[in-house]
Formats: sequence, C-alpha cells, structure tokens
Amino acid sequence: MRVVIAGGHGKIALLLERLLAERGDQAVGLVRNPAHATDVRTAGAEAVVCDLEAASAGAVAVLLAGADAVVFAAGAGPGSGAPRKDSVDRAASVLMAEAGERAGVRRFVQVSSMGAGQPPRPGAGEVWAAYIAAKTAAEADLRARDLDWTILRPGGLTDAPATGRIRLAPPPVPAGTIPRADVAAVIAALLDYPGARHQTLELVAGDSPVAAAVHSIP
Ligand SMILES: NC(=O)c1ccc[n+]([C@@H]2O[C@H](COP(=O)([O-])OP(=O)(O)OC[C@H]3O[C@@H](n4cnc5c(N)ncnc54)[C@H](OP(=O)(O)O)[C@@H]3O)[C@@H](O)[C@H]2O)c1
Repeated sequence: MRVVIAGGHGKIALLLERLLAERGDQAVGLVRNPAHATDVRTAGAEAVVCDLEAASAGAVAVLLAGADAVVFAAGAGPGSGAPRKDSVDRAASVLMAEAGERAGVRRFVQVSSMGAGQPPRPGAGEVWAAYIAAKTAAEADLRARDLDWTILRPGGLTDAPATGRIRLAPPPVPAGTIPRADVAAVIAALLDYPGARHQTLELVAGDSPVAAAVHSIP
C-alpha cells in the first residue's frame, strides 16, 4: 500500500512511517521544510517537499498519483495562533481531501481531535476555540466528500512509549490521553480495515489491543 502522509515530519507521522515501512508498505511524507527530508527517509519513507498552505489542489493531486491512501497528520502546532489553525488544521485538510478526490485516492484517514464537533469548553481561550472550529470544519468537509474516510479524534497526546492498549469508539468517549505511538498503530490498522470507512472514532488509552479494537468497530 502506498500511503501519502500530510505533515510527514510530525511526531505521529514519523512513528507511522516507521510502522508502515516495517510491514512493507510504502509511505510518502509531505514536508514543508526540505531540512526535514532526512528524518523522514530515516523513518523509512519517501520525502516530498510540499507546503500545504501554499500548494494548489491540482499540484497535490499530482503528488497523490498512484497512492492508495492519504493520512492527514499535519497541524499548526502548539505555538501557533488562530489564523494558522484555520490555514493548516482546516484548510490543509480540505486541500488534501480535494486532491484525493481529484487523484481518485479514496481512502483518507484524518487526524482530528477530541473536542471537535462540540462548542469549545467555556474559558478555554481564543486559540483553542479557533483550533476546535478548524477541526470541526475539516471533519464536516471530509464527511461531505465521496471518499472512504475515517475521522480519528485522539485525546491529549503524549510521547510515552506505545502500550498497544486503547479505547476506540464513536463519540462520546470520556476524555483521556494517548501515546502518539499508539495513535500511529491505530492509523496503520485503520488503513487496512474497510469496516472503518465513514466512521468518526475517539481514541484514548484503554484495555483493548489495537487490532481487536479496530476490528470491533461497529
Ligand atoms: N497535541 C495534542 O494533544 C493533540 C490532541 C489531539 C489531536 N492532535 C492533532 O494530532 C495531529 C498530529 O499531532 P502531532 O503531535 O504528530 O503533530 P506535530 O508533531 O505538531 O506535527 C505536525 C506537522 O504538520 C506540519 N505542518 C504544519 N504546517 C504545514 C504546512 N503548511 N505544510 C506542510 N506541513 C505542515 C509540521 O511541519 P513543520 O515542522 O514544518 O511545522 C509538522 O511536521 C495534529 O493534527 C494535531 O492537531 C493533537
């Protein structure tokens, strides 16, 4: 399987690239900073330079030629303000989905966030509200498309080692955290599982082995 990952130098993306390479899949990481290409290659993936806030859907569709799946794992990141929540967390996902449609790449796994789809919690601040609005709009855009999408909403991300044990279910799942390494393992399993199409799933640490949790998606 050839999988193009938007945000290819992100923490989840690098872990996912390793997992895909280990199981014999071809991963392609889209990076905006050419200096990040080496890390992506070290993770076992191909690196392609593409700034998702500058590229056109047509140009991205060309990069998707021959791919079997797209993973949206980009994000404006913790230091960013409201405008970049919109230009990355919303608009770059819309761009990838549009490009996926144009290129005929039907499978699309979007990394969203728990909290999306609801009003921001009171007092959480303008940047959090912009982030949640961006993720909610990106999800709505994807659901309206003729793609085999899965929306994955992790809880708070940590850099702890993988546990292989998760709680994965349609919302609402009680708030919690999840190691990025487990998120990467879930994405790899979702890519292989047709039953996950057209599902919105929340993900936190739990008791179920990843494969069992993915294969029991209703
Ligand atoms: N933090 C949390 O607790 C949490 C919880 C739930 C969901 N999430 C979501 O999980 C996803 C992945 O998280 P993560 O920690 O793996 O993210 P991350 O390490 O911050 O990686 C995000 C990647 O997106 C890239 N990116 C930003 N703007 C770009 C652009 N214009 N063009 C191309 N790439 C661009 C960044 O590249 P640069 O290095 O060049 O900036 C970075 O490599 C994000 O969507 C995040 O919102 C986070």
